[in-house]
This record gives sequence, structure tokens and C-alpha cells, in this order.
Amino acid sequence: MEQKESKRILTGDRPTGKLHIGHYFGSLQSRIKLQDEYEAFIEVADVQALTDNFNNPEKVKSNVNEILMDQLSVGIDPSKVTFFLQSMIPEIAELTVFYSNLVTIARLQRNPTVKTEIAQKRDVFGESVTYGFLGYPVSQAADITAFNANIIPVGEDQLPLIEQCREIVRKFNSIYGETLKEPEAYLSSNKRIKGLDGNEKMGKSLGNAIYLADSEEVIAQKVMNAVTDPARIKKDDPGNPNICMVAYYHNLFSGGEVKNICEECKKGKRGCVSCKKQLIKNINNHLEPIRDKRRYYEERPELVKEILMEGTNVARKEAARTMEKVKFAMKLDYFKGE
Ligand code: TRP
Repeated sequence: MEQKESKRILTGDRPTGKLHIGHYFGSLQSRIKLQDEYEAFIEVADVQALTDNFNNPEKVKSNVNEILMDQLSVGIDPSKVTFFLQSMIPEIAELTVFYSNLVTIARLQRNPTVKTEIAQKRDVFGESVTYGFLGYPVSQAADITAFNANIIPVGEDQLPLIEQCREIVRKFNSIYGETLKEPEAYLSSNKRIKGLDGNEKMGKSLGNAIYLADSEEVIAQKVMNAVTDPARIKKDDPGNPNICMVAYYHNLFSGGEVKNICEECKKGKRGCVSCKKQLIKNINNHLEPIRDKRRYYEERPELVKEILMEGTNVARKEAARTMEKVKFAMKLDYFKGE
């Protein structure tokens, strides 16, 4: 049997939308690599998703399956990784209550991730944010510590949440005795993928994303509408690949062909349409095996359900073990041995 390091990774996603190629080049590729090196737990964070979608439970529910399928289709292997559903692990909610004594409201309000998100979500919260949303870093600390995870693969935007978790762990251990492991963040990737419109960020709400589940036709249509050098009007005008999104994606998907493509563009020898067609072909070649795998799982809904259920059972046992230690440390171990 292969020997994995005894470190455990834990990461997760809010099921609020399908995953796109920004996620692929960021978090997913690193999960594919890490699953062979460490014991891995991956959470579908439906309870966290409800913190800013409490009025839309249908959206959260329908995306639980999407998030799982997206991960299975890119090759995250359920025989190597434990997938679990947050709402089915009551220990996480229980730990959240205990930890909420160990963090001040002011500290949560200063958390840069929370601060940015509250500013972005005025449409949800108006002038006053909910207790649940302000407190989600506490619940995320419970996600991490419930499974004794010590390596947390995340994007840069999540670093303040890992720091907050480390503070909670230190406080817990200093008051109740050495019980919890202090986790470390593992930066998945610094690469942020730009949107089809040239926006610095690819995102669902921005409408500029290429989804892993997009069909060939949808890819073709999106690439045809991608932003190119606006100064290039006629086919033989010299183009500037540095400001062209088609060139940008060629860099991600076209390997050795890129140099030639850009040279021809700069000399006005290759028109945008042929350049786009080549990109469509390369993206589709890349996504083809991913689509095949998705189809495999789509045809087997029972298997997908089983993967999540079995993983959740494993996770639940792990969380119960942690709970026992936590309750012992907090002198909440009533009725034991009586
Ligand atoms: N907050 C993370 C995100 O929005 C999702 C998440 C929930 C998470 N629980 C976690 C990430 C625990 C890492 C560890 O992407």
C-alpha cells in the first residue's frame, strides 16, 4: 500500500455555484496533487453557504451535487478523499458554540475576509449583518479542528480565516489544556484566472466564467465573444496579444502553440476568428475527459449519493472523537462511567 504522510488536509467549498476554470487552475489542481500525498477531507460547506443564502435554501441544495460532480469529474478520487456534508455533522455546530466564547465581536469585525464580504453583500444584509455571517469564521474553525486537520489548502482570500482558527485553537488550548491541533494554511495557487471580459477575476456573478460543465457549443460561443485587442479592426492590422483575452487563454490551454500564435497576431498574419477557433478546439480537448467523467457520474446518481454518504459517515466518527476530547477538556464529560 502507498504510504501517505501522517498529515491531514481539510478544505471545502460553499455550494453556491458550479466550479469554473479559475477554480480548476487554482484549488482543484492542487487537490488532485495533494490527494496522493496526504490523508484528505473535503467538505461541502452547505451550512456556511446558508450564512449568506439563508433565504435561498433551494440554491444551496441544488449546488451540493454540482460541487461534488465538479470535483469527481476533474479526477478527485473518492477512494483517496473523504467527501462530507457539513450539515450532517452536528459536532461542527456544537464546536461552533463552544468556540464562540473564545472570540470577540470586534475581532470578527476586523477580519479582512469578513469585512470585504460584508461590503460586497449589501444586497443580502443591508446596513446590518447577521450574527451567523459575522460568526462564520468560528464555524470554519470548527470545520477544521473537528477533523484534527493540520494542513488547509486555500486561496489567498481565505488566509485571515485560517489565522482566526489558529487564534481560537491557541486560546482553547491555553484555557482548557492542550487539546486541539493548530492548522497551517497551504496556498493552493497564487494564480488568479481572469474573466472572458478581461476582468481580473473570473466569477459567477460577473458572468465572465468558463465552467467545467460547459458544453462544446457554449465554449465556442463564449470564446467567440471574448475581448480582444480593440485597436485591431481589420484582419491584417497588427494585434497586441498582451491585451487580448484569447491570447491569455491560449497561454493556459495551447502549450507549445502559443509562441507561434502570438507572433502571427503581432504581424497581422492571423485573424482573430481563426485564433479563436484554435482556442475553442484546445479548450474542448482539455475539457473532454472531464466531461466524460462527469457523464459517468451523471449516469450513476446512486453512486454519487453513496460517495457523499459514506464519506460523511467516516467524517462523523472522526468528529465524534474530537468532541469527546473537547468535552473532557471543558469538563462537560457528564455521565461518563456512571
Ligand atoms: N470559506 C471557504 C470558501 O468560501 C469554504 C470553506 C468552508 C472552507 N469550510 C472550510 C475552506 C474549511 C477551508 C477549510 O471557499
